[in-house]
Amino acid sequence: MKLAVVGGGSTYTPELIDGFARLRDVLPVTELVLIDPAADRLELIGALARRIFARQDHPGRITWTDDLDAGLDGADAVLLQLRVGGQAARNQDETWPLECGCVGQETTGAGGLAKALRTVPIVLDIAERVRRRCPDAWIVDFTNPVGIVTRALLSHGHKAVGLCNVAIGFQRKFARLLGVAPERIELEHVGLNHLTWERAVRIDGEDVLPRLLAEHGDAVAADIRMPRPLLDQLGVVPSYYLRYFYQHDAVVEELRTKPSRAAEVAAIERQLLDLYADPELDEKPELLGRRGGAFYSEAAVALTSSLLGDGNADGRNGNSGNRGGGNGGGGNGGGTTGSAGGRARAAGDVQPVRAAGGVQIVNTLNNGTLPFLPDDAVIEVPAAVSARGASPLPLRPLAPLFAGLVANVTAYEHLALDAALKGGRDRVFAALLAHPLIGQIDYANRLTDQLIAHNREHLTWA
Ligand code: G6P
Ligand code: MN
Repeated sequence: MKLAVVGGGSTYTPELIDGFARLRDVLPVTELVLIDPAADRLELIGALARRIFARQDHPGRITWTDDLDAGLDGADAVLLQLRVGGQAARNQDETWPLECGCVGQETTGAGGLAKALRTVPIVLDIAERVRRRCPDAWIVDFTNPVGIVTRALLSHGHKAVGLCNVAIGFQRKFARLLGVAPERIELEHVGLNHLTWERAVRIDGEDVLPRLLAEHGDAVAADIRMPRPLLDQLGVVPSYYLRYFYQHDAVVEELRTKPSRAAEVAAIERQLLDLYADPELDEKPELLGRRGGAFYSEAAVALTSSLLGDGNADGRNGNSGNRGGGNGGGGNGGGTTGSAGGRARAAGDVQPVRAAGGVQIVNTLNNGTLPFLPDDAVIEVPAAVSARGASPLPLRPLAPLFAGLVANVTAYEHLALDAALKGGRDRVFAALLAHPLIGQIDYANRLTDQLIAHNREHLTWA
C-alpha cells in the first residue's frame, strides 16, 4: 500500500508517522512518500520519519520529493495537509478581522474565507494531478477549511473524504473521564466542520452524556472553554469552535490582547525543527503535543484503512460488529467480513483505533441526511466508510437551536466556494455578508477590502 502525503514537510508529519508506525496492523503501509515544495524541511522531516519507522521496526519504505506528479504515481491514498502561505498567511487571517471587531481565526469568519480563497484552487490542481497519476486513489483531506475544501473536491468529482480531529479528541477525552477504552465510545456528533455538537455519548448503546455532564461537567466545560451552565442547559457538548459564535465579542477582546496563534505556532515550529535536526531523535517529541493536532494520525489511519478496505457494501470491517445502536444504523446491517481492510492481519487482533463497524466521523456529502440542507452540502457526521466511500448514518432531526446556525453557515460555505472558484470582489462580499458573524454591509465591505489587500499574491484574480 502506497500513501502519499502532500504537505509532508509539515512539522506535524512526525505525529502522522508515529501513528503509521504504531498502527501498522490496521494500515500496513509499504511505501510512504512525503511531498512538499520546501526541500530543506522535507529532508529533515523525511530523515526523522525514517528513524521513527526504524525504531519501531516498521518495514515500510519512506521517500520524499518536491515533484508532486512523481510522488503521486501509483499511490493508493493521498493525504492533503498543506497550508498555503504558511504561518505568515495564517497570522494575517488571525489579525486584520480584529480591526473591525470581528473574530480573527484561521477557519472561522473572514480569516477562514481568506484561507479558503487561497487554498481551494491549489487543492483542486493537486486533485487533478491525483486523477491523472493515481486515478483510483482516495483523497483524505485535512487541509482547512475542511468543510469548504472537501465540498470543492466533491463538486469536481474527486474521490475525497474530509477529516478533522475534533471528534476523535472528544472521544479520547470522554473515555479518559469515564474510565473506559476509547473504542467503546460512540459519539452522536453533528454539524459542519468546526461547527459541531456532541448530542449523545454512547457506551454499549446507552447514552451516558447526562452522566458525563453530571459527573465531569466542569472538566468538559473547561476543555472547551465555555460556561458549565450552558452545557447543562443545552444537554450537548459544543466543539470549542462554537466559542467563536457563542462568545464572539469576548473572544475578540481576548484575541486583541495576546499574540496570534500563528505567532505561537511559528515559535513552536522553530523549536520543533531544531529538535528534528537531532540525528538521535527517533520518536515524536513531547513539544508536538502543544499543537492542536492530537490524535489526527489515529483518525487518518482508521479512515484510510476503511477506504482502502475490501469494498464490502455495508461498511463493516472486521474488528467489531457492535455499533451499539441508537444512532440510526441504516445501511449498516450486514454481517462482518473478518478482514482488516482486505490486508493481512492476525486473526482476532482487535485494534483499538478502528471505529466500531467502520463508522467514522467524517466530512462528506449531506445527500438528505440533514433534510433542510442541500444534498451537495458537506456535513460532519458519523458515516459508514468502506472502499465505496463514506455514507452518513441517518440522524435524528436537528433542533432549531443548532439547525439555524448550520443552515446559515452552509449558505456561507456555498458562497465561499463560489468566491474561491470564480473570484471577484462581489463574491467575496456576498460570502462575508452571509456569514452569521459578519452580516452587515459596512463590516462586509471593510473586510472584503482587507481580505483582498492582504492576499493579493495568492489570488490570481485580485
Ligand atoms: C485542531 C483543528 C485543526 C487545526 C488545528 C490547529 O486540530 O481540528 O483543524 O488545524 O487544531 O492547531 P494549531 O496547533 O496549528 O493551532
Ligand atoms: Mn479541524
